[in-house]
Amino acid sequence: DFNASLKFDYYNSMMINSVDEDGNYADLGGEFPLEENEHFNNLPVNTLQSDIQVPTNVYNKDPVILNAIYNSEALNDVFIGNFQKDPTLTWQFFGSSAGFFRLYPGIKWTPDANGVAAFDCRNRNWYIQAATSPKDIIIMVDISGSMKGLKMTIAKHTINTILDTLGENDFVNVIAYTDYVRYVEPCFKGTLVQADLDNREVTPLSASLGFSLISLTDTHARTNGQGSMCNQAIMLITDGAMEDFEAIFEEYNWPERRVRVFTYLIGREMTFAQNTKWIACNNKGYYTHISTLADVQENVMEYLHVLSRPMVINHNHDIIWTEAYMDTLFNTKAQSLLLMTSVAMPVFSKKKETLSHGILLGVVGTDVPLQEVMKLAPRYMLGPHGYAFLITNNGYILAHPDLRPLVRTWMYTHINYSNTFCPLPRASF
Ligand SMILES: *[C@@H]1O[C@H](CO)[C@@H](O)[C@H](O)[C@H]1NC(C)=O
Repeated sequence: DFNASLKFDYYNSMMINSVDEDGNYADLGGEFPLEENEHFNNLPVNTLQSDIQVPTNVYNKDPVILNAIYNSEALNDVFIGNFQKDPTLTWQFFGSSAGFFRLYPGIKWTPDANGVAAFDCRNRNWYIQAATSPKDIIIMVDISGSMKGLKMTIAKHTINTILDTLGENDFVNVIAYTDYVRYVEPCFKGTLVQADLDNREVTPLSASLGFSLISLTDTHARTNGQGSMCNQAIMLITDGAMEDFEAIFEEYNWPERRVRVFTYLIGREMTFAQNTKWIACNNKGYYTHISTLADVQENVMEYLHVLSRPMVINHNHDIIWTEAYMDTLFNTKAQSLLLMTSVAMPVFSKKKETLSHGILLGVVGTDVPLQEVMKLAPRYMLGPHGYAFLITNNGYILAHPDLRPLVRTWMYTHINYSNTFCPLPRASF
């Protein structure tokens, strides 16, 4: 049960083993024995204890954080037990929806050059892929006159934060709207652009909403392989929605409400809060008010909770394997070319009163070096011309003798808002 006054000390991976001038251990720190371990890239680790990383923008003693960390204490013994049973296991972890990251074995976490621990497990591929099913998302951003200066900066940061929550199975498009509609990316030709020309007279917000709903319906028809599993959403970023949009929803989204609409009201002004809230609430979405840059991360994460709910109802708790990637989090020279995949699963609350809304507690996972998996197909069993390869259940190559993986950087981190940018491709075979 949630305890608002809970007092609880945990090992914070930023604070462990630090002492002040008088030799006292830091708050949330304490003595945490670390030993270099070959199995973990020669990093100093503690195989008897997991520890907790909390990103700098999350208060490390917030009651929500403290309670969730306290509730996940039992994982410690599970992690240790797993490692004893299977010594080939590498990192085991739990990423909480509250924002902390429990990692076994425990390590000392060093902040970046600015003293910031930006790592937020909720942005990682394994977290997002496990927490939601594939998503088709259209981000609609208001670029009309009032969206200047700080508001625009917040809006762009919100877009980037949403893009950071998308993975290989997701489609995305960004529409800027003002007194006319245009797609930020020009790759999406055909009906949509056509619709733009035809509807120039129509009031702008409702017109672009209409286009978005049509294009999502279209996408849905094209990618029917994903069936009802696919989440479709519009993210509306604005400082005020003033028009009569009800008719648009009535025409394109009701009564099924297949497309969810999430609204992000930017800036301090609350005049249009009622409108923006109405849009979200009547389209199975979620309304948030973002008045400062610091609000962005937490507010954007809320949509993942909403999208993870249908999964609970579907009992679709599939294990996901992320695409092959270079381990950047713990990259050391020793293992410079080790390809990894993360295997992860969502964790939902089993409390009776929460079952119907499906409260996502977080995601559990482990990193698997692909070398370990490939050992299951030894060369002598494959014959002279045989080779082994791995594909994931959603069609991505994990390992193949000819695979030349890219060191992955998020392609969207620095969008030039006027340049080409295309939907993420889905693999086809
Ligand atoms: C809540 O936490 C406080 C401090 O840790 C503790 O003294 C109290 O007994 C807890 N309350 C309940 C109902 O467990």
